[in-house]
Amino acid sequence: MKLFPALALAAAMLLSGAGVASAQEKVISERGDIAIDQTSKVDMFRPEKDKENIPRNFQKQPPLIPHSIKGYNVTQNFNKCMDCHSKERAEETGATKVAKSHYLDRDDKKLQTISPRRYFCMQCHVPQFDAKPLVENNYKPSAKN
Ligand code: HEC
Ligand code: HEC
Repeated sequence: MKLFPALALAAAMLLSGAGVASAQEKVISERGDIAIDQTSKVDMFRPEKDKENIPRNFQKQPPLIPHSIKGYNVTQNFNKCMDCHSKERAEETGATKVAKSHYLDRDDKKLQTISPRRYFCMQCHVPQFDAKPLVENNYKPSAKN
């Protein structure tokens, strides 16, 4: 039972108050002290006008949406995004075809139409915003992405 010493140490730290002290620290949300039903200052950022794509930061990043999406609804019966981005429509509309991965089901089986897993585009793709990072950071994209 080599695990015991580690467990004992953790328990000792908790009891000694190290854990209690950090539990009392106030958690500050990036929204600030604003109730959920009120507008946070994050909402002040304006969506960018249609413009060139912001480069992707890492491999497999869902690309940001470089155009306005006002009125582009995704409902049970109709997916406005696929009206332009489907493999059938892309050539005509000039939109980038959705990635091949978007036609695969969870067993990697190829489907004729958009995979249910990818139906709600905005789950992963968001419009470009001119937003400053909420937290200062020195993140750099990897060399190849
Ligand atoms: C009227 C046609 C049209 C509709 C509807 C449309 N798009 Fe687009 N989309 C385009 C075109 C054209 C481009 C490529 C040109 C550009 O950069 O604006 C594009 C580019 C994109 C890109 C960038 C692809 C890349 O390679 O970086 C994403 C992501 C995207 N659209 C997502 C969406 C989503 C999500 C919706 C639905 C909310 C949507 N689009 C609805 C026409 C459309
Ligand atoms: C579960 C997350 C997810 C959903 C939902 C999703 N995408 Fe994507 N999308 C991605 C990722 C990740 C990539 C980039 C990696 C890849 O190619 O799979 C991507 C890539 C793309 C590209 C660029 C393809 C290329 O060749 O560069 C387009 C356009 C796109 N998606 C449109 C859409 C549209 C339209 C929908 C809704 C019908 C959608 N996506 C739904 C995650 C998603």
